[in-house]
Amino acid sequence: MHRASFTLDPSFSIGSADPRLFGSFVEHLGRCVYTGIHEPGHPTADEHGLRRDVLDLVRELGVTVVRYPGGNFVSGHRWEDGVGPDRRVRLEPSWRSIETNEFGLGEFALWAARAGIEPMMAVNLGTRGVQEACDLLEYANHPGGTYLSDLRAEHGAAEPYGIRLWCLGNEMDGSWQIGHRPAADYGTLAAATARAMRMIDPSLELVICGSSHHDMPTFGAWEAEILTTAYDDVDHVSLHAYYREEDDDPASFLASGSAMEDFIEGVVATCDHVRAKLKRRKRITLSFDEWNVWYMKPLEEEARPWEKAPRLLENTYSLTDAVAVGGMLIALLRHADRVKIACQAQLVNVIAPIMTEPGGPAWRQTIFHPFAQAARYGRGEVLRVEPVSPVVETAKYGEAPLLHATAVRDGDDGAVTVFAVNRALDGPMELTVDVRALGGLRVLSHETLADDDRHASNTREDPDRVRPRPLEGAAVEDGRLRATLPPLSWNVIRLGA
Ligand code: AHR
Repeated sequence: MHRASFTLDPSFSIGSADPRLFGSFVEHLGRCVYTGIHEPGHPTADEHGLRRDVLDLVRELGVTVVRYPGGNFVSGHRWEDGVGPDRRVRLEPSWRSIETNEFGLGEFALWAARAGIEPMMAVNLGTRGVQEACDLLEYANHPGGTYLSDLRAEHGAAEPYGIRLWCLGNEMDGSWQIGHRPAADYGTLAAATARAMRMIDPSLELVICGSSHHDMPTFGAWEAEILTTAYDDVDHVSLHAYYREEDDDPASFLASGSAMEDFIEGVVATCDHVRAKLKRRKRITLSFDEWNVWYMKPLEEEARPWEKAPRLLENTYSLTDAVAVGGMLIALLRHADRVKIACQAQLVNVIAPIMTEPGGPAWRQTIFHPFAQAARYGRGEVLRVEPVSPVVETAKYGEAPLLHATAVRDGDDGAVTVFAVNRALDGPMELTVDVRALGGLRVLSHETLADDDRHASNTREDPDRVRPRPLEGAAVEDGRLRATLPPLSWNVIRLGA
């Protein structure tokens, strides 16, 4: 039996968890949009072709904000093709697909309203620039009386969409990005676009593209250069990261949450370096607007026939993947002071918690569950957690603690939720948490995601094989919570009066 412990004290808070930490991402990629969220003729489709079965699952998942329309897709996107009665069919080079543009901004805004989520829009800074970004903003947000805002009304949306959150391009540091450019050029373009957009609406929140992943050769230098140019013009800098198990090495993979924390701390340090250099008071916050587990297949890179909505990036997730995702959610919460937005990539079918079949059912992947639980209970003040834990030596990241944990205290009723991952594959862990400073709390519930088969997954035929199950035995005695965490498990322990 492994043993780990920590102490909770409401005086030691990291900050409040922004509800936007529980965001997701819808890109025109594979079947995320077409036969994912949109499928006219599906038995559950509404009058706009929006799948109601998927909408129900999106609400259950607890998603708060959704980034759209890409991703790599946005860097060659002409937003005008997807509005109004005449939709243009185009080649979509970044994912080698046919884009029919049947679904566009208006449909997305409608879907977002029905899903109860905040839209987060990206502008194309790959093949386009300041003017097109301003045009899109005018079309989306201006109340009326101008060509583009009246055009929106003509297209059926008299009320502006009121989109506050905008990304200035996508992964502009990556050589694979259409219109990729060096940091100096992108920084100048992002700053100019931001200034022009804010002339139209000063209340916008703007995200500048940081690094596409931690291992980018330009990581750190890229952020420092673009922020030196655009510090006063933007609010958030983006981070993207995808993790996967490789070489049958689950120990390294399960440490992904710790690697993610390292990445976050590196970006915070770079932002604050620029802040110090420029002598500014404002702090740049972080938008981790693409994160997840992604098993990339070389086949996806190869030439394929041009098709509409091909099956791309349709990963089936295991219990191990779900526990790793739990660790990533813990990493985000543990940095809630600086990470203000996070989007799991993506929402449906494409590296996603929700899967669908055309004309068929929708179901929850294993990774759905930790996200839904974190989105539900990860609201309030994030308490500082410094675990005393045994460690494991990993090939990729060196030493990593076997316990990865955070705790969130609800400001209204003082209930506390402990989120904990036992990374040990070889045995359970006895967790002891000193909760004396929290007053007389008792255990309301302990739910765990675990399985005898770490490769177990949910499929169309067996959609609930992996799901959270209640666990008996956790209790608070003499001001100490004691709980047993199964081997390789994600745990949610609720404490209340
Ligand atoms: O989410 C899949 C892709 O990953 C996105 O299009 C891109 O931004 C990233 O490289």
